[in-house]
Amino acid sequence: MTKQTVKLHDLLFEVYVAQSEVDAAVKNIAERINADMRNEPAPPVFLCVLNGAFMFAADLLKHIEFDCEVCFLKLSSYEGTASSGKIRELVGLNLELEGRTVILLEDIIDSGVTLEYLVSSIAARNPERIKICTMLFKPDAYTKNLPLDYVGISIENEFVVGRGLDYNQLGRNYKDIYKLIR
Ligand code: IMP
Ligand code: MG
Repeated sequence: MTKQTVKLHDLLFEVYVAQSEVDAAVKNIAERINADMRNEPAPPVFLCVLNGAFMFAADLLKHIEFDCEVCFLKLSSYEGTASSGKIRELVGLNLELEGRTVILLEDIIDSGVTLEYLVSSIAARNPERIKICTMLFKPDAYTKNLPLDYVGISIENEFVVGRGLDYNQLGRNYKDIYKLIR
């Protein structure tokens, strides 16, 4: 049963996108990917960005009808000694991507900073092409020019949890998407 509001740590959230709407959006993306990837010479690779995209990846892949590989990667961030401040690196990407079709799976694209970093890291491994696929997108927050190939639902510039998305690690397990109210 869906709770209308949930409290996580110190903050209150209310239902924003219903489970059925997210399910329909995920299925719609899968159908588009199925159509687009029908004639691939080699099995495409889905790259799921942890932690947030774990649930989206699981939901999406149940509807994928062609042979594919699935791999998980994580971004670690730490304070570097260089003047640039935060340095990130990819953890767990040990797959050969040269010549492959890569479909990057994200939970949400906000400013696009993370996405740009991911795409340039993946591009350095010489894949045939990179498709960008995200469950949620905040168009008003997006500051980059990279075109997004598959977008589930475009949302307002709200802070949201559920379906893998967290607030300080809580809220990932909700089936509906909740937005911060106070
Ligand atoms: P970006 O680099 O600004 O595009 O942010 C992307 C990352 O920030 C996502 O992969 C999420 O981990 C996190 N993020 C952005 N917006 C939200 C939100 O509304 N709720 C929870 N996490 C978010
Ligand atoms: Mg994420």
